[in-house]
Amino acid sequence: MSPREKLEGTELPRVLVPPPGPRSRSSAKRLRGNEGAAIWGAGDSPIVWSRGKGSVVLDVDGNRYLDLTAGFGVLSLGHSAPEVARAVSAQSRKLTQGLGDLMPHEGREKLVRRLASLGGGALDRVLLASTGSEAVELALKTAHLATGRRRVVAFTGAYHGQSYGALAVTDYPGLGKPFAGQIPDLAIRVPYPYAYRCPVAPTCGGRCDLHCLDAAAETVDRELRGPDPPGAILIEPIQGRSGCVLPPPEYLPKLRAFASERGLLIILDEVMTGGGRTGPFWAWERYGEGAAPDLLVAGKGIGGGVAIAAVLGRKRVMESWRKHVLPSGEAPHSSTFYGHPIACAGALKTLERLAAPETRAHVERVGTMFAEGLHAVAAKFSAIGEVRAAGLMAAIELVRDRASREPAPELTAQTVGALMQGGVLAWPGGIHDNVICFTPPLTITEEQVTFAVGAVERALQIS
Ligand SMILES: Cc1ncc(COP(=O)(O)O)c(C=O)c1O
Repeated sequence: MSPREKLEGTELPRVLVPPPGPRSRSSAKRLRGNEGAAIWGAGDSPIVWSRGKGSVVLDVDGNRYLDLTAGFGVLSLGHSAPEVARAVSAQSRKLTQGLGDLMPHEGREKLVRRLASLGGGALDRVLLASTGSEAVELALKTAHLATGRRRVVAFTGAYHGQSYGALAVTDYPGLGKPFAGQIPDLAIRVPYPYAYRCPVAPTCGGRCDLHCLDAAAETVDRELRGPDPPGAILIEPIQGRSGCVLPPPEYLPKLRAFASERGLLIILDEVMTGGGRTGPFWAWERYGEGAAPDLLVAGKGIGGGVAIAAVLGRKRVMESWRKHVLPSGEAPHSSTFYGHPIACAGALKTLERLAAPETRAHVERVGTMFAEGLHAVAAKFSAIGEVRAAGLMAAIELVRDRASREPAPELTAQTVGALMQGGVLAWPGGIHDNVICFTPPLTITEEQVTFAVGAVERALQIS
């Protein structure tokens, strides 16, 4: 394919040169020559992306991939979604910067009102941010102001981002370790309901009986009697980076009830799961009204490719900022790019389509197809220990054998590599590096999903 060839976004992969091809290798080498080492792992050169449309991405060698990453779930409407591109382009000719806490702009007003309308009535106050980590920190600050308590209950395997405040609540192997001396000691760690690898009752055999909730409750109650009690519980309704780990359906409502009885706030981190990724607009809606949070953090997919994140909250919680206006009259929170006009325009357009019933119906239909396909593959390969899926967020957990459930990280890396050789991009995850995660654009076609399932099967055959 020539670099100018038109892309529809519905194509299937076409690999011309084994990836990474020569152009990708030399581009990556040049990049490595000048880029700080923080962003590079130990592995070989990656492929270097040049262009994308829909569920398809091209690398600089002209290889065409089916993108089941969507940039970690960001590209909810696919690469270069035409309506987002038009909105961003029009905004770039109209107004490209606001004045933070001093002077808002029209687009910010529209986006904030739109997000508030998506808060289901209760979460009708909104603060904006540019990244998920920033929004997580904003939620932590809000909870601290609302409760007067600095600590927060957070979960094993949690991923909330990598800025300092976010790292304080993240629990992903190795992350944060070099900075342990600087990261604030905010988290009270309790076990996440990861039934396949139950952290508290290894004999439960995948049938969760909520022992982990009892264990968490015991820890929280003990801390509540101590000198530095927590004010909030922060949880991903489905753990993303840890490998699409789904709690049992009754878990979140029970946690919510537990928190309410003790006057603790519930903060849901929906950075990966929000915006319709799992079917309903917010993943907590899968578990009913009883799971509704006090604060909700959104990011990634709500922007459709622009850098935007948000905190939605209940009025009584969000209003706690009001008492902290500076003596000068300045706002207690701001940032230069707060509610960036181009990001607001892109997000507003994206939300229109994400909130449409047809989008949800499509996610549920193709998500079910994808999950059924993965289950059918799992029936043929004992290396797949578990298939987990919710809408278009899915994962397979790879093990040495099903009886021992011993994680298979090497096989996982090989399979992700084999998928890429076959033109399919997926991302590795899981706290044991043994999960292959899929967060495709929500616009992926049935034909592409069928291809993806076949590709997973072929990749496992050769790995
Ligand atoms: C659940 C969750 N929270 C927060 C973040 C951090 O978002 P960002 O990388 O935009 O800072 C992520 C990123 O993967 C995430 O998955």
